[in-house]
Amino acid sequence: MAATIALNLPTNPYQIQIDGGNIDRLGEKLAGLKIGTKVTIVSNPSVFGHYGDRAVKSISQSGFEVIECILPDGEEHKNLRTIEQIYDRAIASKLERSSTFLALGGGVIGDMTGFAAATWNRGTNFIQVPTTLLAMVDASVGGKTGVNHPQGKNKIGAFYQPKLVAIDPDVLQTLPAREFRAGMAEVIKYAVIWDADLFDRLLNHPQLSNIEDLAPEFIADILTRSCQAKADVVLKDEKESHLRGILNYGHTIGHAIESITNYARFNHGEAVGMGMVVAGRLAAALGLWSKDDADRQDLIIAKAGLTTHLPADLDLEKIVHLTHSDKKVEAGKVRYILPSSIGYGRKIGDRIATKDRQTILNEIGREVEDNEIINVLRSM
Ligand SMILES: NC(=O)c1ccc[n+]([C@@H]2O[C@H](COP(=O)([O-])OP(=O)(O)OC[C@H]3O[C@@H](n4cnc5c(N)ncnc54)[C@H](O)[C@@H]3O)[C@@H](O)[C@H]2O)c1
Ligand SMILES: [Zn+2]
Repeated sequence: MAATIALNLPTNPYQIQIDGGNIDRLGEKLAGLKIGTKVTIVSNPSVFGHYGDRAVKSISQSGFEVIECILPDGEEHKNLRTIEQIYDRAIASKLERSSTFLALGGGVIGDMTGFAAATWNRGTNFIQVPTTLLAMVDASVGGKTGVNHPQGKNKIGAFYQPKLVAIDPDVLQTLPAREFRAGMAEVIKYAVIWDADLFDRLLNHPQLSNIEDLAPEFIADILTRSCQAKADVVLKDEKESHLRGILNYGHTIGHAIESITNYARFNHGEAVGMGMVVAGRLAAALGLWSKDDADRQDLIIAKAGLTTHLPADLDLEKIVHLTHSDKKVEAGKVRYILPSSIGYGRKIGDRIATKDRQTILNEIGREVEDNEIINVLRSM
């Protein structure tokens, strides 16, 4: 079940290649690109322990000199100090501008490697080999790279597109179950905002939370559809001036929940799952979306093993307050991405050339008053 998605950006076209066993075919894939002779694999001890040998073997057999740069594991290391470790390795290995940085890992490794690639010698080749579900369907596609600042997540960054995204679905077998479920939240997001067929497939599948019980064909299908959705959106709005904002569905409340619990209690996907439930109910309460569709969405979220209610101890006023410091705030009001039908974004995207920015923003969401959102939060 191999699939290739072309992300034909005018200045940086690249492919997302999805196939079991791709880790062992990295060398031949890189040989087909103009990327110099040295490849620095950036990874962490856990992922490199699982897949490093196979990746190194394949890449060196194709004639590349391989340099290993192993960074500590975890979001707490996604900062400029760790980026310096990548630069230090690059200096020590006499990397030229025509060399290549390859990210082998989840979104943390991908975001840092991409930022290092964007800034090393003002831009060097970059390859994404995502190993978490979240990184496969979201972080590795679309060119957002960066690190955290003590005062905020992803505050320092650059748009920088990879030359290739090579996905090997087989590596998901070693992913911790909780990380898999977190990635499913983003898959469900694409189903709601972009792909009604994907929505039906998720709804009709008996379970979505245990990867061991999911057929490889099903996994390949949801990966392909999710990457296609992200590619479609990025192609229409690479720098997030209008439509790309739709990818923040469920994220306004999700980010606030992550922040209020100090990024320790819920992972990103778990918080986004709750955020989508809130946004779906808000859309239904405002008469934008059918309650049946919102209920069906919640059913899928529950099937993925994600929570569909807010824990009673969360301070709802504080959550709403925190949404005001979200990046998506305009003129003191908070804009929520709110669906009007399953897959509604695709219909907006199809007619994008005939619309101005404000029209698109108004169609993908709405500015919401605090009391409207607090009522929904209290009902959960
Ligand atoms: N650039 C973007 O557009 C974008 C989009 C979404 C998220 N992100 C970023 O992605 C990051 C989150 O990424 P994540 O959820 O992938 O987390 P992560 O990179 O921290 O990976 C989660 C854990 O899984 C381990 N792991 C990874 N692959 C594995 C495998 N195949 N087998 C066993 N263990 C494995 C990692 O070592 C880590 O401990 C955040 O920093 C977020 O800001 C970026
Ligand atoms: Zn997300």
